[in-house]
Amino acid sequence: MIIGVPRESDPRETRVAATPKSVEQLLKLGYEVRVESGAGEKASFPDEAYTCAGAEVTDAATVWASEVVAKIHAPTEAEIAMTHPGAALVSMVAAPRSPELLEKLAAAGLTVLAMDSVPRISRAQALDVISSMANIGGYRAVIEAAHEFGSFFTGQVTAAGKVPPARVFVSGTGVAGLAAIGTANSLGAIVSATDIRAETAEQVESMGATFVAVESGESQQSSDGYAKEATEDYAAAATRMYAEQVPLQDIIITTAQIPGRPAPRLITAEMVATMRPGSVIVDMAASSGGNVEGSVADEVVTTEGGVKIIGYSDLPGRLPTQASQLFSQNIVNLIKLVTPVKDGELTLDLDDVVQRGMLVADAGEVTFPPPAVSVSAAPAPAAAAPEPASKPEKKPLDPRVLYVGAAALALLSLVLFWVSPTSLLGHFMVLMLSVVIGFYVIGNVSHSLHTPLMSVTNAISGIIVVGCLVGLTFFDASVGFSSVENTLILVLSALGILLASINVFGGFTVTGRMLKMFRKGE
Ligand code: NAI
Repeated sequence: MIIGVPRESDPRETRVAATPKSVEQLLKLGYEVRVESGAGEKASFPDEAYTCAGAEVTDAATVWASEVVAKIHAPTEAEIAMTHPGAALVSMVAAPRSPELLEKLAAAGLTVLAMDSVPRISRAQALDVISSMANIGGYRAVIEAAHEFGSFFTGQVTAAGKVPPARVFVSGTGVAGLAAIGTANSLGAIVSATDIRAETAEQVESMGATFVAVESGESQQSSDGYAKEATEDYAAAATRMYAEQVPLQDIIITTAQIPGRPAPRLITAEMVATMRPGSVIVDMAASSGGNVEGSVADEVVTTEGGVKIIGYSDLPGRLPTQASQLFSQNIVNLIKLVTPVKDGELTLDLDDVVQRGMLVADAGEVTFPPPAVSVSAAPAPAAAAPEPASKPEKKPLDPRVLYVGAAALALLSLVLFWVSPTSLLGHFMVLMLSVVIGFYVIGNVSHSLHTPLMSVTNAISGIIVVGCLVGLTFFDASVGFSSVENTLILVLSALGILLASINVFGGFTVTGRMLKMFRKGE
């Protein structure tokens, strides 16, 4: 079959549904590929790159006459008229909001696979353009905010004085929200976030942000993995939380949405008025009703109080190369799914929930909505979990035992100092100081740096092994040590070598295991 990739007719659209790399992948699946001349221009993919990849670069009519047409947005009426009955269309369709378009696509005899109707299940993530575009959108929202914000994101101590870090608050911690958290965090801001689904707290914290919970005690998740509409109780508690949080923030990024519903209104104009002049809000949901009062789709509004509200609805398109790469990869993954024997023939399996979920029109019939798929991001409640066996209660340690132990240790140290040569006391002091400094230094190393830290401790262990080996060279009566001293040298050196070797070899084993996790096919 031939896959045609037209140029997007919306003049604001910068993305393209196939890149030279994805063309190569489609050819390997047995398809021929036609690309309309200039289709990849705005995403920095010139016609020559497509030709080199093996595609035929041609005119619009030839591309639209292909057996499979892959594009970003749903076609216009004029474009539908150029298709052939029985052809397949792969694009975003916005099916829930476009019943008329679905009728027209079905009437044209098209089989339509909607890239924005992928069921939200793990197996389908490779095809999910909503997620890949939201990821880019979340990233770009932070970049747009940084562009409008008049200060650094990261705190700095400069010769001219201290600069505090920016405070960023993200509302809605789905795909876009998490991407925004990651980006703001990597720019050095202090990030906090909230979501109606309390179970996202763990993900938020794993990305280095603080989760701000709404004190309402209700879990707000439906069976399809998405949030459900807030109850009155929850909405009142959320309003209190926003009223407290909004004035503290420099940047707010809102991404809250419940599929198929207008965006929930979270931040009122009065709340916006409590922000400092120069603060920035990015309302990612501006085009679907807005999470923030006063946001306007595709515009930057500056309030009387000097707060900028960005309502861009084309955030992924502002990174056209990256967005085209991810979108086209999602299409390749779909084509792989529907071409099981790599013979260049699109074969649908309607028993597969992913393919059925994406199929919105087939052989003259509208097939949307598909049967519901039940998924849950929350862990299933344990069925009648047995009562945990009650743990034996730990008795608190008698403080007298502590005092006696400390006194005994002090006495032992005194005796040791008394009988030891003066040089040992010096060494002992160094050891004690290193233990205290090491405890505070290593205790403050962030978890993400523990692996490089392990390499340093391996190097130190190597030095210990060498030291112990040198110590062993004194294990010789002829040097003048008594037999007791000789035995002590032997035992301490052997112990040192053993413990340091455990660290060295253990470190190698752990590193080996970690590397194994990143090797393909293991
Ligand atoms: P998502 O469904 O993954 O995440 C939405 C999150 O909002 C969910 O975690 C949900 O629990 C949460 N939420 C729902 N109601 C809430 C409430 N009342 N309070 C707090 N949290 C609430 O959606 P995704 O893919 O992350 O997209 C987020 C928004 O960004 C959507 O509105 C989408 O249309 C928009 N978007 C905008 C783009 C742009 O260019 N402006 C680009 C991509 C996405």
